Parts: sequence; C-alpha cells; structure tokens
Amino acid sequence: MTESKPFPPLKNDLLLRAARGEKTERAPVWVMRQAGRYLPEFRAERVEHDFFKICRTPELATKVTLQPIDRYDGLLDASIIFSDILVIPQAMGMTVEMVPGKGPHFPEPLVLPADMAKLTKSVDVHKELQYVFDAITMTRHALNGRVPLIGFVGAPWTLMAYMIEGGGSKTLSKAKEWVFKYPKESHELLGRITDVCVDFLVGQVQAGAQMLQVFESWGGELSPHDFELFSLPYLAQIVTRVKAKLGKDKAVPMTVFAKGSWYALDKLSVIGYEVVSLDWTHTPESAKAITKGHVTLQGNMDPNVLLGGDEAIVATVERMIRGFGSTERYIANLGHGILPSVPVDAMGLFLKTVHRVGLEVAAE
Ligand code: CP3
Repeated sequence: MTESKPFPPLKNDLLLRAARGEKTERAPVWVMRQAGRYLPEFRAERVEHDFFKICRTPELATKVTLQPIDRYDGLLDASIIFSDILVIPQAMGMTVEMVPGKGPHFPEPLVLPADMAKLTKSVDVHKELQYVFDAITMTRHALNGRVPLIGFVGAPWTLMAYMIEGGGSKTLSKAKEWVFKYPKESHELLGRITDVCVDFLVGQVQAGAQMLQVFESWGGELSPHDFELFSLPYLAQIVTRVKAKLGKDKAVPMTVFAKGSWYALDKLSVIGYEVVSLDWTHTPESAKAITKGHVTLQGNMDPNVLLGGDEAIVATVERMIRGFGSTERYIANLGHGILPSVPVDAMGLFLKTVHRVGLEVAAE
C-alpha cells in the first residue's frame, strides 16, 4: 500500500464540488494534456529523458505534473498525473515506444486474435504499474493541497485500437476489421483490457487520486450502433466496478470523455459517471438539454482556438461560459488535448478569461 503519511488538506475543492453537483463560486478550469509539449520546461525535460522514463520515475512525473500548476499559479483548479494511456498495453506485455515528433509506436501490434495469447493473462497492476501509484502519492504530497489530483486511463476500445493499429491511424481499418470479422475475440480483448482498467483506477485512488477520467479518444470512429456494442458497455462496467470496489466512503467522482461520440451523449449521462466531458461539436444548450442535469458537463472549446489570437480566445470563452453557466454542474476545459504549438500566453489568456467571465456570470 502506498498511502502512509496523511496528505496535506485540500485548499481548492472547486473541481470536486462541481463534479458532485454542488454549487461553486465560479466554474473550475483545467486543460486536458496541460502538462506537455507546449511548455518549454517540459521540452527541456524531454531533451534529457525518454518519455516513458519520465512516466516511470516518480520524481520526474511529479515535477512535470506540477509544471503547469506553478507556471499558471492560481489559475488551474486541477492537476492530472503525468503518465499515458498506453501504460496499460505495456502492463499487458506489449512494447510501446514514444517516437519524438511522431507519437506512439508498437513494434509488434496484435495482428490476429491468436496474438492475444502473447498478452499477460492476469495483470497484477501493483507489480506492473506501481510506478504510477508512487508518482500519484508523491505528487499529492508535492501539491501540498493546492488543487486536486486527477488519475486516468484510456478506455478499452481506444486501447484495443492502439494495440492493433500499432500507433496512430487515420482510418482505424485494422482495429475495425477485428470488431467486424472477429466480434467474439474483440469482446474478449475488450473485457481483458477492462479488467486492467478497473484495477488500475482503483489503485490510483488508493494511491491518492481524487478524481478519475476515462479517455475514449477514438469513440467517434465507431458508428452509433458499434459504439453501443464495443465502447459503451465497457465504459459502464468500468464506472460500476470501480465504485463497487472502492465502496461509498472511498469512491471519487469519475469523468467519461468519448471524443466524437456526440450521438451517445444521452446514454453517457446515465451510466454512473458524475461528469461527461464534451468535445467542441456540442452547443452548451443542446448538451444541457440532452443530459437533463444528470451530470456535470466539462469542456469544450476547440483547442485550435488557442492558435487563433486573443480576440478569438476571449470571444469563444465568453460564449462558452455564458452558455454553460458558471456555478452549477460545469467544469471549463478544452474539447480535446492542448496542442503542442499553443503559445504559453494563449493558454494563460484562456485561463484568466475563464476566471473573469466565470465570476461575472456568477454575480449576474
Ligand atoms: O498533462 C496531462 O494531461 C497528463 C499526461 C497525459 C499524456 N497523455 C502525456 C503525453 C495524458 C492524460 C495523456 C493521455 C493520452 N495519451 C491520450 C488520451 C487523450 C487524448 O489526447 O485523446 C492519448 C490518445 C494518448 C496517446 C498518445 N500519447 C499520443 C497519441 C501521443 C503522441 C501525440 C501527442 O499528443 O503528443 C502521446 C504522447 C504524449 N503523451 C506526450 C505527452 C506529454 C508527448 C510525448 C513527447 O514528449 O514526445
């Protein structure tokens, strides 16, 4: 067990209150992929260290997790542990490399269902992923209660797709060939990934994560019909099983982000997650109408607006906060991860504008 010394008391609980559906003085804000390549201080670490070395070294993961919290001091209402969704395929026995300038690469992807035999049968997350738990515990102490710490996993369909494609892909043809040609084996693989996701999320909470997010980054590649078969049941299993394993006293709020799956918003809002994270294809009005107050909404500015200059950023944030509101069931964020080319000042302006407009809306 990694939790020994008590953690410092939390000084800013806006995020957790918004997630639980309690009123907030203003909308909390954080940004997906907030620790990373757009920050010169992160790029400096990457000159020295391989990507997965940073993930596997708790001191380095802690340092990088805190970089945006320090740079945008007082402007971010959450931290997210520095790691990657692809640590699960690694824990299942696959080799994953991070190629600079290109992204993840699996030298030996799954080609045929028979290749599943190469995967570790029952993964002990405390053996394979203890380094993430240690990074979480260390980060909780280093944060000193400034903001809550979010843990995360990639969702089963997105991870399966990476494991079969062997990296990024425009079409996901190979992964889709699996679901259509080998549905039974695909469900078996999805089930095995789900088991690891559940244990890994439970361990992250035991190590100190105060909220959890599940990234179904490739959800929108599936048709509504196929999403209901190959994504939704596993997203539902994860939240149900994680909450059951932790029990009422230890459970933390959970967020689901199914990028591109606008068609499933109604269903995503009733499977047990407290928060549904939205990409930019929703208007606040339609998202609120569809989810009927069942969940807190998170999002959803197009990350590319951060490349569009100050006027565009301010106008988009104004529209977003006025649309979603500031004090009830809303967490401001981007609609997907921040891009490596975003100027650091653009991110600063985004955060400051969310604070300013959020307080204005709260006072109206
Ligand atoms: O700041 C944070 O949000 C915490 C760390 C974090 C990373 N990856 C670090 C990272 C998180 C939450 C992720 C999640 C992740 N990783 C997702 C889901 C979110 C999304 O964007 O849809 C996905 C699909 C991945 C897989 C992945 N990792 C890709 C496709 C890439 C290459 C492209 C890119 O975005 O940089 C990575 C690499 C990666 N993960 C980097 C970072 C900081 C850059 C790696 C480098 O420095 O070379």
